[in-house]
Amino acid sequence: MRPMGLEKGARVAVLTSGGDAPGMNAALRAAARVGAEIGLDMVGVEDGYAGLIEGRIAPLDIRLLDEASRRGGTALGTARCKPFATPEGQKRAREALAKNDIRALLVIGGNGSLTGARTLRDVETKGGPLIVGGVPASIDNDLACTSMSIGVDTAMNTIVEACDRIFDTATAHKRTFIVEVMGRDCGYLAMTAGIAAGADAVLVREADKTEAQIVDQVVRTMQRAYGPQPDGSATKRRVLVIKSEGVPIESARLKELVVEKTHSLFPDVDTRVTVLGHVVRGGTPTAFDRLLGARLANAAIRAMVAGQSDFMAGWCGPGITRPACPWDPYVVLTPLEEVLAETAKLMAGDSDLARWRKRVFAEVEDILQR
Ligand code: F6P
Repeated sequence: MRPMGLEKGARVAVLTSGGDAPGMNAALRAAARVGAEIGLDMVGVEDGYAGLIEGRIAPLDIRLLDEASRRGGTALGTARCKPFATPEGQKRAREALAKNDIRALLVIGGNGSLTGARTLRDVETKGGPLIVGGVPASIDNDLACTSMSIGVDTAMNTIVEACDRIFDTATAHKRTFIVEVMGRDCGYLAMTAGIAAGADAVLVREADKTEAQIVDQVVRTMQRAYGPQPDGSATKRRVLVIKSEGVPIESARLKELVVEKTHSLFPDVDTRVTVLGHVVRGGTPTAFDRLLGARLANAAIRAMVAGQSDFMAGWCGPGITRPACPWDPYVVLTPLEEVLAETAKLMAGDSDLARWRKRVFAEVEDILQR
């Protein structure tokens, strides 16, 4: 049965969960402001599902969120909450929702967070089943049914800026750098940042290469860069390889194997590793991520008011075939079940988008190496 919409004064809880993503605060701010304007009672849950289990729920403070929206992280706090996946954790979360008279829940997070949201959709509230909505936020861009998740653009810009810096010092010393970036099992962030930064090679899990093939790819890139150029132009003074963290070889081991094969060929070239790690996840959100967060949260709150439930508000773009929602021509609402199923396929390499990414990643490999 389609749940009834939200009445004025209905209490709506918002939480951020999983890995934080720059732009989450802008989404919180928009949810708080739009909800207040409509006349909803907007509350925030601290530390994601961990705070929900413990009933740590308080009114959203618009003034505080106005300030926070300029910053990365999340003003509500977040957690990777293992207890929430247990029957006891679920029971406590349901009790907290009932006790606090929550009529609707907006979850801002990635795949695991939206999986959690789905389990709460049958919680009974005074006005009918709990209304549940999701907003995609993860720097990995590994969620289907949205062309962009909150945080991706900022993370990409952070990587590009770091690579620009590394280029300077790499060129000065004639060095090869292997720069490891976050993204879990998804190579999107590494690839897009690599193209934007002008990397010489990008290593992604989706290429399905063996250890020997990965080493070979880096060695070939170095030969192409430091060896004689077909058009007689000067050789390169640096090689920058971006490696997605999901590639199944440790960066330190990759470096060792590459050095073994190249030290006699290029004795004057030093090879170094830089792991950007959590630097990629923090930092000031770009204008795009702030707007993305605000627009997705705006549409999600309005959809919940209209009685829509069990959906994710995604950003339009290639591969998104559903029509736009009535509240924003760039926002598309997709049932959570479909989002989770399509995401599983994307990560298994079993969807049109996954196949397209894999093909393009392979094409880009040769183009970057030139
Ligand atoms: O999912 C976002 C992400 O930053 C991944 O890129 C990374 O693998 C993971 O989270 C790291 O999580 P944590 O900070 O919990 O170790």
